[in-house]
Amino acid sequence: QVFKLEDYRPSDFRIPATELTFDLAPERTLVTAELTIERQPGVAAKTPLVLDGDGLTLVSLAIDGEAAGAASFRATPDSLTLRSLPAARSFRLTIVTEIAPAENAALMGLYLSNSVYCTQCEAEGFRRITYFLDRPDVLSVYTVRIEADLKTAPLLLSNGNPGETGELNGGRHFAVWHDPFPKPSYLFALVAGDLATVSDSFETMEGRKVALGIHVEHGKQDRTTYAMDALKRSMKWDEERFGRAYDLDVFNIVAVSDFNMGAMENKGLNIFNDKYVLADPETATDTDFANIEAIIAHEYFHNWTGNRITCRDWFQLCLKEGLTVYRDQEFTADQRSRAVERIGDVRTLKGHQFPEDQGPLAHPVRPRRYREINNFYTATVYEKGAEVVRMIQALLGPDLFRAGMDLYFERHDGEAATVEEFVKVFEDAAGRDLSQFFLWYQQAGTPNVTAKARYDEGARVLAIDIEQSIPPTPGESRKKVMHIPLAFGLVGPDGSDMDWKAVDGASVENGVIHLRKRKHALRFSGVSERPRLSLNRGFSAPVTLSVEENRADRIFLARHDGDLFCRWQALNTLMVEVLIAAANLCRDGRPPDFPADLVALCGDIAADESLEPAFRALALTLPAEADIAREMGSNIDPDAILAARTLLAEAIGSAHAQAFAALYGALDSKAPFTPDSGSAGRRALRNIILDYLAVSSGEASLAARQYADASNMTDRAAALTVLATRHGESTDKAEAFADFERRYRTDALVLDKWFQIQAAAPGPAAVETVRALGEHPAFSLTNPNRLRALVGTFSTANQTGFHRADGEGYRFFAEIVLQVEKKNPQVAARLATALRSWRSLEPGRKALAREVLLRMSSAENLSADLRDIVDRTLA
Ligand code: ARG
Ligand code: ZN
Repeated sequence: QVFKLEDYRPSDFRIPATELTFDLAPERTLVTAELTIERQPGVAAKTPLVLDGDGLTLVSLAIDGEAAGAASFRATPDSLTLRSLPAARSFRLTIVTEIAPAENAALMGLYLSNSVYCTQCEAEGFRRITYFLDRPDVLSVYTVRIEADLKTAPLLLSNGNPGETGELNGGRHFAVWHDPFPKPSYLFALVAGDLATVSDSFETMEGRKVALGIHVEHGKQDRTTYAMDALKRSMKWDEERFGRAYDLDVFNIVAVSDFNMGAMENKGLNIFNDKYVLADPETATDTDFANIEAIIAHEYFHNWTGNRITCRDWFQLCLKEGLTVYRDQEFTADQRSRAVERIGDVRTLKGHQFPEDQGPLAHPVRPRRYREINNFYTATVYEKGAEVVRMIQALLGPDLFRAGMDLYFERHDGEAATVEEFVKVFEDAAGRDLSQFFLWYQQAGTPNVTAKARYDEGARVLAIDIEQSIPPTPGESRKKVMHIPLAFGLVGPDGSDMDWKAVDGASVENGVIHLRKRKHALRFSGVSERPRLSLNRGFSAPVTLSVEENRADRIFLARHDGDLFCRWQALNTLMVEVLIAAANLCRDGRPPDFPADLVALCGDIAADESLEPAFRALALTLPAEADIAREMGSNIDPDAILAARTLLAEAIGSAHAQAFAALYGALDSKAPFTPDSGSAGRRALRNIILDYLAVSSGEASLAARQYADASNMTDRAAALTVLATRHGESTDKAEAFADFERRYRTDALVLDKWFQIQAAAPGPAAVETVRALGEHPAFSLTNPNRLRALVGTFSTANQTGFHRADGEGYRFFAEIVLQVEKKNPQVAARLATALRSWRSLEPGRKALAREVLLRMSSAENLSADLRDIVDRTLA
C-alpha cells in the first residue's frame, strides 16, 4: 500500500479522552481501553468507525457499557470496524485486547527489554497495543493505570503526572498516571520493571519545581551523572534561547538495552537506548559523552517541537525532526565550540544525507509518498531538515527567526501542524515571501552550485558567475530553480575580509548572496585588490559547491579564511582532490606522490596553537574512504581508495614524524578525566597524531603502550582502533583485543566497541573476521546495538571488507539481513540501506551487489519494511 500526501483528510472521529488499564504479564497482558469517541461535526451517524490494529487479539468490546453484538463490528488483527454506532455524537468504547510483550521481537509496541516492560509507539506502534485512531492528528488526554507484580516490577511509569498508587492482592500493585496535555498515540509510553532511580530537580523560569528521574539497571546509577547534567542544561537553554519552559511536575528518562533507534520523546517519559544515557570515563568515549548530551537535549526539546506542537500526518515528520535537530545542534554549538560543532554536523550530513540524496533512496525533506513510514526516519528528514531550518535563520537573521519561532509556538500550541504552517509563521513575522524557498521541502536532490570569479584590476571589479543545477532524483526528472542562501566573504591578502562599494547581479544582504535564478552574474565594484572568494561560509546551504580556483588560492583559504568552517572545507577539498588522483594511480599500479604544500600545511595546522585542538583534530582527519568514494562518484574501487588514503597518511606522518612525536608527548595529560569539550579536543588531537605516528612508523608498540596505560575509554579505544587498522597481525594487537574482551565481557555497551572496532578493520580478511564474530557467544541478532556494532559497522564503515571484490561481503550481509528481518523488520530494513550506493561501484562489484539485492528481493515473505528498501534500491 502506498500512502500519499495529497490523500490526507481529517478523521471523522475524535478521541478526546483515553483511559488505559494494563494488567501486565510477559506472555499475556490485558489492555483495557476506555475511549471517549466523538463524531466530528457534519459526519453522518452511519459513518463507520475504523480503528487501526497490528497483530491484535480482541478479547471483548462494549459500546456505552454494553457488550457489542457480534454483528455490529468486525475485528481482524489489523483493524476494528464498527458499523452500527450510537446516534449520540459522543459515546464510549471499551476495548479489551490481549498481547504478549515477551514475544515481541520487533521492539515496536509493548515489549520486554531485559525483563523491563517498555514501549516504542512512534510511528505506528500503538496499534500493536490496542485498537485506536493511530494517527498523529488525533489528540487525546490519557489516564493510565498499570498493574504488575510488585516484586519484578516495583517501578511503574507512564506519561504525565503521577496519581494514585497502591497494593493489590496476589503480590501485585498499581499506579495511575494522568497526562493533562492532549497528545497523539505515538507519544504514549509505559515502563514497568525493577530499575534503579537517580533523582534530581529543576526549577523552571516560571517557578515550577520539576522532579527529574533517570531510571537505569541496578548498579549503573553512577553512569547517569553526565546525562542528568545534560538534561538540566537543556532545560535551561530552551528557556533562555527559545523562551520554552517545561510543563509537567515530573520528567522521567528510562534507559533500556534493546531499542531500535536512539531515543524517543514520549511526553514526560523519554525512553532511551541505554547507549545514549550511560557514561563514565572508564566505559564511555568522548564521542559517547557528546552523543548523550545531544540526544538528551534532542528528546527534551521535542517537548515543544513535537509534543506541544505535533505533526498533522507522517509526511510532516521533518516539522518536528528537522526543527529539533536544528535546536539540538544549536544547543551543542552554544555548549561547546560553534565551529567544531558545525564541521561535525556537515561531515555527518555529507557522509549520510548526501549519498541518500544522490542515490535511489532520495526523497524530499517532506516526502510525498511512502509505503513504510519507518523507512523515512532518514538523514534527509532529520539532517537536511535541520539545514532547511538553519537556512530560514540565515535568510531572516536571528531576530526575525526568533520572532517567527515565537509566533509558531503562540499560533500552533496544542495543534497537529504542517510544514506550510511552519513556513508561514516566518513569512508573517518577517514580511517575506518564502514560496521559492519552500522548494527545499519539496524537491529531492543535492543542488550543485558552480562559481567562477574574475578580478579586473583596472576597474577594481570582482565578477562572479554562479550557476545552480539540481540533478534528477527518482520520480522527479525536472527541477525548479531554488532559493539558495550563500554566505560569503572576500578574503584579502592579509587574511581579513575586504569591503566593496556596490554589488549587482543578485541581492546580497548581511553577507549572504541570494541565488534565485539559474544563473547570476555578480559584480562587486570598489574592490581594492584581488580577493580570494570564500563561499558557502558556515555551510549556509546544503549544496555541492565547485569553485573554479587555483590550488594556491585554496591553500591560502585553508590557511587564512576567517570562517573556520571554510578553512576546514578548503583543506578537505584539497585532500579529496589529491586522494582521488592518487586512487586512480594506485588502481593502475602506479605509485602516487603527494604535493608538498599540502603535506606542509598539515604540519602547520597540527602545530598551530592559535587553533583549538578539536579543530586541529578535525582538520587532520583525512576524508573517510566513503567520502572519497562519494566525491569520485562512479566506477568506485574501494581497494584503490584505501591504498591512496593510507599512503597519504604515511606521507604526512613521516614528513612530520618528529614534530608529531613531540606533540603526542606534550598532549599527554596526567590530569583526571573530564568530559568537557576542551579536554575532549586535546584527546582527539593526540589520538589522530597517534594514528599518523603508527602508520608512518609501522610500529605497533606506541599504540600498544597507549592501550595499556590508558586511564579512560577514549584513549583506550583509540589505541585499539589504531592497532586494528594500522598494523597487521601482531602479538601486541592480539593481546590488546584479548585484554579488552576479558576486561569488559560483562559490560554490553563496552563490548559493543570490541565488536565494532574489529568490524571496521579494513582488508580482505574482514569478512571472515566478522563472520567468526557472528558466532561469538556474546553476539546476538536480537539486540539492535550488538547487531549494529558488528554488521552495521561492517557494512557502512568497512569499505574494503564489505565491498570485497568477490562479493563475499555482500553475501554474508544478505544472510544476516534476511535472518534479522524475520524478527525485527525495521532494523533489517535500516541495515539494508547500506547497499544504496551500489550503482557507483566499478562494474564487477556492481554486478555482485545487484545479484545480492535481487536475492533479497526474491526471498519469501519479505516484510513490507525490507521490501520497500530493496525495491527502491533496485529501481
Ligand atoms: N522521534 C524519535 C527521535 O528522533 C525517533 C523515533 C523513531 N522511531 C521509529 N519507529 N522510526 O527522537
Ligand atoms: Zn527526534
